[in-house]
Amino acid sequence: MQIRNPRHARWDALSESFATRSLSTETPDLLLDTITELGLLPHGASALDVGCGVGHHLVRLSSGLAAGIGLDSSPGMIRQAKDLSRQSGSTHLKFVLHDWTTGTPALIDGHRFDLVIAHKTPAVNGPADLDRLLACAGGACVVAKPVYRRSVLVDAVLAGSGRTQRTAAGSKSMRVLLGRAFELGYQPELRHAEETWTPRMNREQFIASLAEVRSAADPDFVTRAHRVFDECASEGFVEDTIEAHVTLAAWRVEN
Ligand SMILES: C[S@@+](CC[C@H](N)C(=O)[O-])C[C@H]1O[C@@H](n2cnc3c(N)ncnc32)[C@H](O)[C@@H]1O
Repeated sequence: MQIRNPRHARWDALSESFATRSLSTETPDLLLDTITELGLLPHGASALDVGCGVGHHLVRLSSGLAAGIGLDSSPGMIRQAKDLSRQSGSTHLKFVLHDWTTGTPALIDGHRFDLVIAHKTPAVNGPADLDRLLACAGGACVVAKPVYRRSVLVDAVLAGSGRTQRTAAGSKSMRVLLGRAFELGYQPELRHAEETWTPRMNREQFIASLAEVRSAADPDFVTRAHRVFDECASEGFVEDTIEAHVTLAAWRVEN
């Protein structure tokens, strides 16, 4: 499938950095910890991860899974997920390029997964996205969003422009998703974590990663972004620091 939306280039740009993140079981992970705490994944279960990124959650869950499918709209993320899965020796995980906002792919239409996940992904932002995710659920659903997110380098690029970064965009979509879950009669359990990410990017990746912050009303944006890169880069790379407050909602689904 061909993905035409230029917004997805942002995620391609971040895919290498995501892939080099540790798969260490010592790194605390709100999603994996909550799945264990609430017993959401019985041994031999199946899982669907929408907006799976480099697939590290499915890979870390793979020993307890009979089957896992990860969907993502970024070709770079899917490539990294396939590599990671191959390196881990998992033969029962499948990673497929798909933009969730365009609908449910034929591959999984009518299937029920014991656990469906949408973790920190814009793939599931509105009620229709959630409804389609729930239609695939036959056990439990977990959705998480950074309800506060601030990038040190975006602040630097916007400095002096009169613009400020939108730190609460995820909060709005989490409110919408929780509202829909309550409307459907579910009572999600909520969990929270403070997280810091430090993606490392070359110039091209850095400029692409700013796609959603760019604005036609801010013609100097790209010039300032290059200047920030020149000021902050070491050996051709910048490292951003992203601080986030993540909220996760989990609930059982009878289907
Ligand atoms: C912040 S990353 C999170 C990845 C992974 N869930 C994790 O927790 O590490 C967001 C992911 O959502 C994917 N994504 C964004 N919009 C999407 C869409 N419409 N359909 C599918 N995936 C999407 C991006 O490509 C990216 O891999």
